[in-house]
Amino acid sequence: MADNQKTYTLTNDETGVSVKLPVRESIQGPPAIDVSALYKEAGVFTYDPGFMSTASCKSKITFIQGEVGILEYRGYPIEQLAANGDFLETAYLLLNGELPNEGQLRDFNQLINRHTMLNETLTHFFDGFHYNAHPMAIMVGVVGSLSAFYHDSLDINDPELRRVAAHRLIAKMPTIAAASYKHNVGEPFMYPRNELSYCANLLHMMFATPCEEYEVDPVAEKALNLLFILHADHEQNASTSTVRLAGSSLANPFACIAAGIASLWGPAHGGANEAVLDMLSEIGDVSQIDKYIAKAKDKDDGFRLMGFGHRVYKKYDPRAGIIREVCHEVLEKLADANNPMFELAQRLEEIALNDEYFIERKLYPNVDFYSGIIYRALGIPNNMFTVMFAIARTVGWVAHWLEMMDDPRQKIGRPRQIYKGYARRDYVPLSDR
Ligand code: SDX
Repeated sequence: MADNQKTYTLTNDETGVSVKLPVRESIQGPPAIDVSALYKEAGVFTYDPGFMSTASCKSKITFIQGEVGILEYRGYPIEQLAANGDFLETAYLLLNGELPNEGQLRDFNQLINRHTMLNETLTHFFDGFHYNAHPMAIMVGVVGSLSAFYHDSLDINDPELRRVAAHRLIAKMPTIAAASYKHNVGEPFMYPRNELSYCANLLHMMFATPCEEYEVDPVAEKALNLLFILHADHEQNASTSTVRLAGSSLANPFACIAAGIASLWGPAHGGANEAVLDMLSEIGDVSQIDKYIAKAKDKDDGFRLMGFGHRVYKKYDPRAGIIREVCHEVLEKLADANNPMFELAQRLEEIALNDEYFIERKLYPNVDFYSGIIYRALGIPNNMFTVMFAIARTVGWVAHWLEMMDDPRQKIGRPRQIYKGYARRDYVPLSDR
């Protein structure tokens, strides 16, 4: 170890044997103790279920400081990107590390637009799903099946082909999402229209029909653009870590993103936005709030306040605050200013944030608490909310996949365990059992 290397010393109190472990510094945020040599040097594992104190990798993409509610994409504060940005500009930033100039942004838009269509054979895949299959189930299946269309021509060891796969995924997610929705409502799929923006194209593919012209509402397009910027990436969350772990075995990127979609679907993660609206519908009106706050605090009751709490944020999730403000604007513009769900959500937040249980545990609204109210106001059904999240987070997933695959030192992820099962014992013949 270099002389000026900072270290932590771990000492076995029983034997007095010590191990010096190097410290790995962050540009901002806490340093990490590198324990990769611990088992070799001391014959012990670390134990951290849920990875509460574990850094799984080095990354330059997104920085979060939960104690003060900071979120930055490649160093740019989320508030500034949300106020000035465009989703594909943010996608370019997350993938390449720098904001694009006009020419780069124009070329990137054209590049993504060129990949929005699906192989025509793939459209028949949807016929295999029951008409009311959950769109997230369809997304997992169809995105995974992209491997069958591109796997043989995709050499993930070729950096250029890795980027082609990343662009294909970003471009095709809205088309697959819209087709999942059309399958649910029994309407014909709409082809992408490449003169439209990324968000307008998605809305057009979802809500247009072959029977008449469909004008995308600019209010809806602007709201979706903002929501997608806010959902684009979030450090090493469960679904991004799933993509990295799947990718560490050198699985193809379509299979890795399908794994990320599956992980995001859980109500403890991206599935919470749909669960929030289901919860608000169950609460019904302000008079029932106290009853549900009591349920959320009752350890014997499995009920949790969906859209509340976060592993990292111990203050208000900066995204939730921005979304709540946009809620006001969007509902007013869509002539739905007194939306009962929004009023109920605000009252629920107000009561919870003044309750000792939530204050003590630093439980605040997260990104999922208000987003569903906007999606619903745009005419998007509850079961498509997490699909919206998956479209946006595909940018973060592929950015992390590229970062991992570009690292020559990347290794397969293979955690160990604390074994608590039976000690060795001999087989008992059936006749003796
Ligand atoms: C996302 O990681 C990311 O970055 C995720 C995400 C992203 O952009 O990728 O930000 C997106 O997934 C946001 C989170 C969406 N999920 C929900 O809204 C579901 C409801 N929230 C939780 O279930 C929970 O808060 C988690 C899963 C978000 C965080 O769980 P942790 O960090 O494991 O915390 P915990 O379950 O150990 O809870 C700590 C305490 C416990 O009480 P005690 O045992 O200490 O008495 O807080 C309580 C929990 O019971 N608690 C809640 C609660 N969340 C935590 N109690 C009631 N309602 C809640 N929502």
